[in-house]
Amino acid sequence: MTTILALLKRSLGGVAALPEGGFWLPVQASDGAAGVDRLFFFIFGLSLFFFALIVILMVVFVVRYRRREGQEPLPSPHHNTALELTWTGIPLLLVIVIFVWGFKVFLDLNTPPANAYEVQVTGQKWKWLFTYPTGHVDENLHVPVDQPVRLVMTSEDVIHSFFVPAFRIKMDVVPGRYSKVWFRATLPGEYQVYCAEYCGTSHSDMLAKVVVHEPGGFEKWMGEVGDMFKSMTPAQVGEKLYRVRGCAQCHSADGRASVGPTFLGVWGHEQPLKGGGSVQVEENYVRESILEPQAKIAAGFEPVMPTYKGKLSDREITAMIEYLKSLSGTGDRGPGTEGPVAAGGAGARVTP
Ligand code: CUA
Repeated sequence: MTTILALLKRSLGGVAALPEGGFWLPVQASDGAAGVDRLFFFIFGLSLFFFALIVILMVVFVVRYRRREGQEPLPSPHHNTALELTWTGIPLLLVIVIFVWGFKVFLDLNTPPANAYEVQVTGQKWKWLFTYPTGHVDENLHVPVDQPVRLVMTSEDVIHSFFVPAFRIKMDVVPGRYSKVWFRATLPGEYQVYCAEYCGTSHSDMLAKVVVHEPGGFEKWMGEVGDMFKSMTPAQVGEKLYRVRGCAQCHSADGRASVGPTFLGVWGHEQPLKGGGSVQVEENYVRESILEPQAKIAAGFEPVMPTYKGKLSDREITAMIEYLKSLSGTGDRGPGTEGPVAAGGAGARVTP
C-alpha cells in the first residue's frame, strides 16, 4: 500500500519526478517527458489502488461470508440506488480526469513552437536517415540542447515507428505520407532511437542515436561534417556513404550474400541477370542500379531496392563507384589496401 501511495504521490509530485531515470522509466531528457511520466504514474497508481482494493475486499468477503454449518443463506438485496450511483459516478469522474489530462499532454506533444529546427527523417529497412536543412544526411540525429526540434518523417517501404524513450516520443513512420513529432532536449548526451513497429528481419537492429550537443557544439559538428569531399578521397566518401546511407543493410562488403549481392569483388564481374543474360559491372551499370534499381535485377535476388534518385548527388554516385572499385583492388584511385579479388569476384575483370 505504501508503494501505491508513493506512486500516486510521485505522479502528482511536480516536474522533478525521476529526472535521473531509474527502475521504472528511463532518464527524462526532454521538456515533454515529465508530463508524460506524471500521467503514466497517475494511471498506474490508480490501477494498482483499485486492483488492491478489489482483491482485498474479495478475499475478506469470501472468508467472512463463507457458508457455515446450519446457517441458511439470507435473501440478497438486488437494488441500491445510492451504491449504484456511487460506483458509476467515481469511475466516470476518474476517466474524465484521465481524458482531459491526457488530451492536454497530447496537444503539448503535437504542437511544436514556431521557431523549431526541422529535420527530415526517413525510415527504410533497416535504417534511419536524418536530413538537415543544410542538405547533410546522417545516420544519427544531432540536435542542439534546449532548442525545439521538429521531425518530419516518412518511410521508403513499410511502416516503422520512431521511438526515443528518453524523450517519451513515439510516432509511426508511414510510406506515402508525412508524420510529425517534436521535442526539446534538455540534457546533453546520447540517447537511443528504436524502431517500435515490427518491419522485418532486422527490425531490432534498426537503431540510431540522438546526440544532444552542448551549446555551440551543434554548429561546430555541422561545420565539420559539412563537406566530406574536402577531407576524404572519393573512395573514402563512398565507403562512408555505404555505411551511412543504408547500402550496408543489404549489401555486405565481405563477400556474404544478403538481401542484395555483396559489394566485395563485384567490380568488373560479369553479373548474371534475373531472366537471363548478363551485364558487366562498370560505371554505367552501377549508376543505373543506384538510380533505377529495378532496371536490371541480379540473378538470385528480389527487386526490393528503393531508388536513390534525388537522394545521392552525381558526385556521391561517383564516390560510390570509386568505393566499389576499391573493394576489388582494381580501383585506379582507391586506397589499394584490399586484397586482389575474393569470393564472388571470380577474377572476371575485363578491362574495357
Ligand atoms: Cu523499422 Cu521495425
